[in-house]
Amino acid sequence: MTTSRSDLPVVLDRARPLAAQITGQLRDAVTSGVLLAGERLLSTRELAATLGVSRTVVTSAYAQLFAEGWLEGRHGSGTYVADVTPGLPPVRVPPGPARSGRVPAGQVRPSQATPPSVSPLETDKDGRIEMLPGVPWADGIDPAMWRRAWRYAGTRPPSSWPDACGLRELRAELVTYLRRSRALTVTADHILITRGVSNGLTGLAATLLSPGDRAGVEEPGYPAAREVLRRAGAEVVPCRVDEHGVVTDELPDDLRLLYTTPAHQYPLGGRLPVARRQALVAWARRTGTVIVEDDYDGEFRYDVAPLPALAAMDPEVVVYLGTTSKMLTPVLGAGWLVGAPGLVDRITADRQRISERVPEPVQHALVQMITSGALERHVRRMRLEYARRRSVLMGLPGVIGDTAGMHVVLELPPGRSAAEVASAACDLGVGVFTLDRYYAGPPNRDGLALGYGAVPLTGVRRAAGLLRPLLAP
Ligand SMILES: Cc1ncc(COP(=O)(O)O)c(C=O)c1O
Repeated sequence: MTTSRSDLPVVLDRARPLAAQITGQLRDAVTSGVLLAGERLLSTRELAATLGVSRTVVTSAYAQLFAEGWLEGRHGSGTYVADVTPGLPPVRVPPGPARSGRVPAGQVRPSQATPPSVSPLETDKDGRIEMLPGVPWADGIDPAMWRRAWRYAGTRPPSSWPDACGLRELRAELVTYLRRSRALTVTADHILITRGVSNGLTGLAATLLSPGDRAGVEEPGYPAAREVLRRAGAEVVPCRVDEHGVVTDELPDDLRLLYTTPAHQYPLGGRLPVARRQALVAWARRTGTVIVEDDYDGEFRYDVAPLPALAAMDPEVVVYLGTTSKMLTPVLGAGWLVGAPGLVDRITADRQRISERVPEPVQHALVQMITSGALERHVRRMRLEYARRRSVLMGLPGVIGDTAGMHVVLELPPGRSAAEVASAACDLGVGVFTLDRYYAGPPNRDGLALGYGAVPLTGVRRAAGLLRPLLAP
């Protein structure tokens, strides 16, 4: 019989968010080897009673740890520590801001415990519904928020010469944002402002790759990433993906760089569990490969809080790419690259040589949206809006990859071909993508990718109604 651990110190400061503290401390207990793979935790009810907190708090902490892959459930028999390796640096989740009236910590003991190539419209003039993956809702941007940002940018005098790393104020804001939202503890020297993921990857590839170097890209994966690496002269190596993300134990040892989407695999939607994240970082340390983490839509999670970045495990071997293209709009053309300062310096010097820059007014506008809280409010509103649309699509058969982002994948019943379903959907006025466009080689899965970011709820409902009969076995 397996017994549950009852001797774990969890120290709760009741002035700070409780679920985040439980999550962080249990995570640390696993990484430090205090809790071992296979050990059973208390049930949510028992832990809640032991800690004197509500069960919702513990349920939410466990949900986060499940999502990140630290815990696993065994049907009917409880919650266990997943098969993760202690010893790698823990993913640090910084404490939330302390509120006033902080009470002394009391120790409590748990007893057991592809972007489209043409400008897309949500529905075009003939009432067609184009379900393009990865396109956010432009109409969801509050015009007053947009005006305020540009008004502020207009008040900022131009510098005499652009700073090749980007505005210091923006980088300082991103230091805080990344720490709070992605557990990524870096300084402004780790950050380079870019025009987005593709631009960041282009700079990185120009600095790191020599013609003929081998660069891994998830298969299926983001076609633009493949194209950027190919243009840099790399030999692009497809790296197999399953429902969780990239399959780490199949990675070849001779890659110079690996492009990956651990928070929300593009397009299948898996999130890379902790054990694989650890394996990936260990592999990169051993082989000298640089991992490129594309966190394109990590703000939009529907099950748990945004996941800690893979780069938080080791910012020396992982280069993190963020963008405003999903959380706000691709027309802004702003993003960030986070890496070891030496590498950031080299990329910056390279960009200077070709006079590469991000327009200052864009950066000022972004600073205004971050410091005023407008960007965070926008993301919260969009998350609710996208969640409504997503829940309509969840009613369709064969949905996978639905826990984040603004698209889902539909696996088809046996005997159904994605090309036929897409063509029939097109005849009915619904545009969907087939999965084969995300493969470099022969596809090993057939299915459809459905974007709901740019389609209003009524359009999503109509599309779901039209698609449903096409998906019947
Ligand atoms: C996987 C992925 N990464 C990144 C992006 C955004 O890239 P960028 O910041 O270059 O606009 C997209 C847009 O469709 C995407 O699908």
